[in-house]
Amino acid sequence: MKILAIESSCDETAAAVVEDGRKVLSSVIASQVSEHIIYGGVVPEIASRMHAQAISGVVSKALDDANLKYSDLDAVAVTYAPGLIGALLVGVNFAKGLSYSTGLPLIPVHHLRSHIAANYITSQEFEPPFLCLVVSGGHSHIVAVNDYTDFKIIGRTKDDAAGECMDKAARAMGLPYPGGVNLDKISRDGNPDVYKLPHPHVDGSVYDFSFSGLKTAVVNIIHNSKQKGIEINVPDLGASCIETVADCLVTNTVKAAEEYGFKKIALAGGVSANSRLRKRMNDVCLKKGWELYMPDLSLCGDNAAMVGAQAYYEYKNNTFANLDLNAYATMPIDKADY
Ligand code: KG4
Ligand code: ZN
Repeated sequence: MKILAIESSCDETAAAVVEDGRKVLSSVIASQVSEHIIYGGVVPEIASRMHAQAISGVVSKALDDANLKYSDLDAVAVTYAPGLIGALLVGVNFAKGLSYSTGLPLIPVHHLRSHIAANYITSQEFEPPFLCLVVSGGHSHIVAVNDYTDFKIIGRTKDDAAGECMDKAARAMGLPYPGGVNLDKISRDGNPDVYKLPHPHVDGSVYDFSFSGLKTAVVNIIHNSKQKGIEINVPDLGASCIETVADCLVTNTVKAAEEYGFKKIALAGGVSANSRLRKRMNDVCLKKGWELYMPDLSLCGDNAAMVGAQAYYEYKNNTFANLDLNAYATMPIDKADY
């Protein structure tokens, strides 16, 4: 089964053709990073306009690269939530137009479900049930993936997402957008013990996260140093910040795995590209004898191949949308109404 998938939830316009949920026949990504870099972050209206400009060419290229015509396809899939509403609407409306004109069924795909599905492409034999740490720019979840379309949220952030925290910390350190990526690069040789940062806990909910205090602590260190005329060592402060975030993420995931009896762990989302998080999770899983699955680095960020992967399982679960499909800025992964 060949599915054409479209992704436009944030600042990447992407299209891909994926066969049977695992084989990527083509994957095209038009990144808007160079456009947003001067603003230090994604400007939603610019993102929507750029998606509108790029989407037709990106979808055509995905079909051409796969050497296929619309008549060779079995379905069209699209990310419909969560994300920037104006950005999502571009992909959703384009997919609806395609579905209408070709008669292909339309599959709505939840963005975080698709991040998890990136693992099915990287590890062909990998299948649920497993415990997944989903960490992106907007979400930090510990999710029990009981089946391909059956999810249960075990822990979540009470405020900022891990990616958001690192992006904001990076910005305060003067690093360019996208902050998390640049923080990762610059901090690899940093000493995480030079700057002491608080290790946030959420009282009463052992699997939840809180990252906004950590971000504020980084900003305070920078301000205090400036006032005293002391120069900040960015690699050291960056390493401290990343180490603290990774520590919270790994500690809670391990607790959840132990409590719920999972011995198969996965990472997903943009932050799963973080080198320190990958290393820490790998170390702990080795020690405990658990299996660890991580998306290939090329599949951690937003792309449409992962949408095509999840869409295959949504199709098998009879998840189809009509032409009144809407986009939603927020949508829980375990409900996924459309
Ligand atoms: O999944 P994603 O591409 O988009 C959303 O769905 O949000 O995640 C983007 C987030 C951003 O916060 C970005 O800074 C972060 O992932 N990120 C990283 C790394 N690569 C991307 N954070 C830390 N280290 C990285 N290597
Ligand atoms: Zn994403």
